[in-house]
Amino acid sequence: MRLMSNNFEYGYDAVDTYVESLFLKNDAVLEKTITSIQKSGMPQISVYPNLGHFLSLLVKISKSKRILEIGTLGGYSAIWLARALPEDGTLVTLERQENYADTARANIEEAGMKEKVDIRIGDALAILKSMIKSEEAPFDLMFLDAHKPSYKQYLNHALSLSRPGSIIVADNVIFSEDVIEPKENDEMASGIHQFNQAIAKHPKLDATILPLVSKKGLDGIALALIK
Ligand SMILES: C[S@@+](CC[C@H](N)C(=O)[O-])C[C@H]1O[C@@H](n2cnc3c(N)ncnc32)[C@H](O)[C@@H]1O
Repeated sequence: MRLMSNNFEYGYDAVDTYVESLFLKNDAVLEKTITSIQKSGMPQISVYPNLGHFLSLLVKISKSKRILEIGTLGGYSAIWLARALPEDGTLVTLERQENYADTARANIEEAGMKEKVDIRIGDALAILKSMIKSEEAPFDLMFLDAHKPSYKQYLNHALSLSRPGSIIVADNVIFSEDVIEPKENDEMASGIHQFNQAIAKHPKLDATILPLVSKKGLDGIALALIK
């Protein structure tokens, strides 16, 4: 069940729109990216604009130069992340669906971010394993936003691709009330619940979850710092 706004005079939509109106400007490239995702028949599951902006601030605050994103879709969050990188920064983004990656590539090129973004196509877990095997340099910031039941495995691989001070961010960690008490056969909710427990208990992590409201309802984003 998606969590909905309650006991709120204005509702989550109004709160989200209020923050957008304060901090976001019209952005033709990002709007075109969303339109291209709609037109290609891809799911409308990009991060929402205020969250894209928040991610870009995290990149700047942490002075990240190397970012790993798991789950590209049409490149919407990738554009936010890549734009926040310095001139010599790199974003590696992983996507299973070749047609999604094609749409993302076109959008990223349109945003002028082609030189900074490396889209790798295939199953994220397989790509992550080969990155670890080839001893790829550690990432400063890793954004987990793909297959929810695999979040705990993404976390383990992300840890192997990190250094002390790296940041792990994971979207949709309270995507449903069921995350709080998952039903036995609910793979998505229990996958996320296990991930949340893992970041809470992991000795190498200092982590929290920020509950968030938006037009999509209530959700949460996890933030973890590698000690
Ligand atoms: C929520 S969307 C990503 C949205 C994107 N981060 C954004 O905000 O613009 C999740 C993406 O992960 C991809 N995905 C799902 N399972 C995957 C897997 N096993 N390996 C790689 N990508 C996967 C999906 O195809 C989808 O494009």
